[in-house]
Amino acid sequence: MVQQDPHRIGKNAAVRIKAAVLEEFGAPLAVRDIDLAEPRAGEVLVRLVACGVCHTDLYTASGADPSGYAPTVLGHEGAGVVERVGDGVTSVRPGDHVVTLFSPQCRECIHCQSTRTNLCLAIREQQNKGFLPDGTARLSLDGEPVRHFMGTSTFAEYTVMPEIALARITPEAPLHHACLFACGLTTGLGAAMNTAKVEAGSTCVVFGAGMVGLGAVAGCRLQGAERIVCVDLSAGRLELARGQGATDTLVGGPNAVEQILEMTGGFGADYTFEATGLVAVMRQAVESARMGWGLCTIAGVAGKGETLDIIPRYLITGRRVCGSSFGGVKGRDQVPQLVERALAGEIDVEPFISHRLLLDEVNRGFELMEAQDGIRSVIDFD
Ligand SMILES: NC(=O)c1ccc[n+]([C@@H]2O[C@H](COP(=O)([O-])OP(=O)(O)OC[C@H]3O[C@@H](n4cnc5c(N)ncnc54)[C@H](O)[C@@H]3O)[C@@H](O)[C@H]2O)c1
Ligand SMILES: [Zn+2]
Ligand SMILES: [Zn+2]
Repeated sequence: MVQQDPHRIGKNAAVRIKAAVLEEFGAPLAVRDIDLAEPRAGEVLVRLVACGVCHTDLYTASGADPSGYAPTVLGHEGAGVVERVGDGVTSVRPGDHVVTLFSPQCRECIHCQSTRTNLCLAIREQQNKGFLPDGTARLSLDGEPVRHFMGTSTFAEYTVMPEIALARITPEAPLHHACLFACGLTTGLGAAMNTAKVEAGSTCVVFGAGMVGLGAVAGCRLQGAERIVCVDLSAGRLELARGQGATDTLVGGPNAVEQILEMTGGFGADYTFEATGLVAVMRQAVESARMGWGLCTIAGVAGKGETLDIIPRYLITGRRVCGSSFGGVKGRDQVPQLVERALAGEIDVEPFISHRLLLDEVNRGFELMEAQDGIRSVIDFD
């Protein structure tokens, strides 16, 4: 349990925690002792056990994201154990194992009540500004507020999060595996399983073999796809794609569409997925989808202001394009199910974890990512 008393500040009880703070865009994160106030109503104090390092953290740290803010504690691929709960919290209790959700599920808003989307509306506005739902921060440094990145701030020994942003998972799942379900892996799996709803026996093409693309390959396999072509520039990543169920691999480039048409009798694939964030590749994913019914699912996040070119004839002749955020997954309901499937041996998580780091080494995680060294670095807190 957290030791409270020695660290009380002002009127608000707080704990002193170690966290990786983005103080200045473009500079390395500073690992510091900062204050974390007690959870208020509807909030939960979570002790992090593991956290993946994702591109979105790096993107914000670099200053490239125009909506970024500082100072903030980065991190959003967290898994840990509930330490304490605020008033009114009923769905989790101390000791529960949880995965953090940057995409919450309130179960009450018009979007949560629809089966057609996972984009919960409950806390978007405050979350986008870096605050908890009541518009304030629990994190502070020398009395000045520090914002909560993506509502999660999991590059920290502890975090306070809204109850609606925690998925309770089986305690049997290793938490260094479970944390990958907080972002990239679920995004890829869900793109295939939820957004596209790949049908058994179909042909799929996945562009990109990072965490998201490899998840999409695994999702296509779980749906019973007959043929799964993975396209990437890296031979090593294409090898990992085979391990996740790709039946064919292709080195990407300007001729990728032509090559895919050749591989598919001139028609293209029933389902295509884009997981690179490059608009030129998004276009290839649209053009590799089959005439008549091909569905292209876009998961990559393009640079600010970039647009996707689509020749309208591709659409008139029956191709469809859709986007997918967090794989269309309703986090509290579905992340626990995906974690169970991994535990049952249906999803091989270990090959995604290339490096295990300490919180003090978080900047090394960014360097490894920039060097494309491995798929995921996971920070261990224990
Ligand atoms: N939709 C969401 O909710 C969501 C969530 C997480 C990440 N993302 C986005 O998904 C994308 C992928 O994320 P990631 O973590 O897997 O990234 P990543 O950088 O690890 O993987 C991208 C892959 O694309 C490959 N690539 C580059 N050029 C290519 C080309 N011309 N043809 C084929 N492959 C090519 C790279 O070699 C790399 O392996 C990013 O844009 C990320 O921001 C979206
Ligand atoms: Zn992420
Ligand atoms: Zn909602």
